[in-house]
Amino acid sequence: MTIDWAALRAAATDVAGRAYAPYSRLRVGAAGLTADGRVVTGCNVENASFGLTLCAECGLVSALHAAGVSAVPALVAVDVVAGDGAPLAPCGRCRQLLQEAGGAALLVDTADGPVPLSDLLPAAFGGPDLSARRDPAQPEG
Ligand code: THU
Repeated sequence: MTIDWAALRAAATDVAGRAYAPYSRLRVGAAGLTADGRVVTGCNVENASFGLTLCAECGLVSALHAAGVSAVPALVAVDVVAGDGAPLAPCGRCRQLLQEAGGAALLVDTADGPVPLSDLLPAAFGGPDLSARRDPAQPEG
C-alpha cells in the first residue's frame, strides 16, 4: 500500500488545531492510515485533574474502533504532530497503545522519517505474554 505521508501529516496537523489543551498548551494531533485505506484521527483532551488527560493517540485508537476497522493489525502508518505540524515522539503509554493497534511493523513518522514501531518500543509486552504466563490458580476477578 502506498502511504501518502504528506496527507497523513496534514490530517494530524489539522486535528491538532482542535485539541483541548488549556493546561499544557501543547496541542497534539494524530492521524493513522488503516489497513483498508481509511484515515482516522485524534487530538489530546486535557482535564483539570491532569492525570485524566487523553493523549491524541488515545483518541485515534478510539476512532479506529468506532469506525469498525476489523483488520488485524488495523493500523499501517501513524503521524503524531504538535501544533506546529512537526512530528512529536509518542509517549510510552501511547507506544503501547499503538503496538496493540498496529503491531511491531506499524510505521511511525519521526523527525528523521518513518520508522517501524519496534524501533520505538523494542521487546514489547503484548497479548501473547498474557496467554502464555497466566497463573491458572489465580481466581478470576
Ligand atoms: N500528549 C499526547 O497527546 N500524546 C503524546 O504521545 C505525548 C503527550 C499530550 C498529553 C498532554 O495533553 C500534552 O501532550 C502534554 O503532555
